[in-house]
Amino acid sequence: MALSNRHLLGLDGVPAEDISKILDTAESLKTILSRPIPKVPTLRGITVVNLFFENSTRTRISFELAEKRLSADTVNFTSSGSSVKKGETLKDTVRNIEAMKIDMVVIRHASAGTPYFLTKCINSVIINAGDGRHEHPTQALLDMMTLREKWGTLKGKKVAIIGDIRHSRVAGSNMRGLVTMGAEVLVCGPRTLIPPGIEEMGVHVTYNLDEALAWADALNVLRIQLERQEKGLFPSIREYHAEYGITRERLKRFDKEIVIMHPGPINRGVEIDSDVADSDASIILEQVTNGVAVRMAVLVLLSGIDAAHES
Ligand code: CP
Repeated sequence: MALSNRHLLGLDGVPAEDISKILDTAESLKTILSRPIPKVPTLRGITVVNLFFENSTRTRISFELAEKRLSADTVNFTSSGSSVKKGETLKDTVRNIEAMKIDMVVIRHASAGTPYFLTKCINSVIINAGDGRHEHPTQALLDMMTLREKWGTLKGKKVAIIGDIRHSRVAGSNMRGLVTMGAEVLVCGPRTLIPPGIEEMGVHVTYNLDEALAWADALNVLRIQLERQEKGLFPSIREYHAEYGITRERLKRFDKEIVIMHPGPINRGVEIDSDVADSDASIILEQVTNGVAVRMAVLVLLSGIDAAHES
């Protein structure tokens, strides 16, 4: 087996060797994306089903493109318009889809733990594309790939994750992955949006944005997950922006270049201003490009196909 586990359910417990293997493979597969014909036959004969029970732009399109670049057969499922609306259970849905002979399932779901539950229902390889507030492992892998491309290494680098840590699966996977890879991680946001005990993950905490900016080499700026939180965790969007919004004026107080990241979708003028998101320090669109390469790498490494014989 190319990786320690036959599924990618999260980055919790994934060893540094596996993360490095995924990032190295992604770097090598990325070159395919700039060829005149960006397609290789590596996953010919492999069928991947993309099961999206929650909205997505980047992750869904990125997985689908990754599958097509590798010549896999792909099928897209969204819960709207499916028999889920007639009361079919998730277990029945996936067992019926698997009965049509598939190999891999990519799943996004609003409930934490759904990818793990699927491993108990079907035999296909399961890849987590975001489960509730829990994990979004391919997002963290593409974030790490983009930072490693920029710096050459993650070891000893200081990454501050800013904003709604409590409701963010991106934060969950980034903290786990970056700590495993030897980076230093700090989270910063309102007290109500930072879960207690987070230091036990080996992560620093501050509630003061200026302290985070003085410390950081890179910021990963998060969206406020209004769809996942109860009301009243901060006074208003305007106050959140005043206290924690990343603005050019705020960054100018620090005499250094801080790399700017965001997993998307961006709420411009809330967690980050447009002139920062679109500045030269921003690597947000490079993250999106690397998302395709990282997902190609995960698909190849979990497919059981020996890519060395197929390229
Ligand atoms: N970063 C991310 O997961 O974006 P989508 O919700 O558009 O997939």
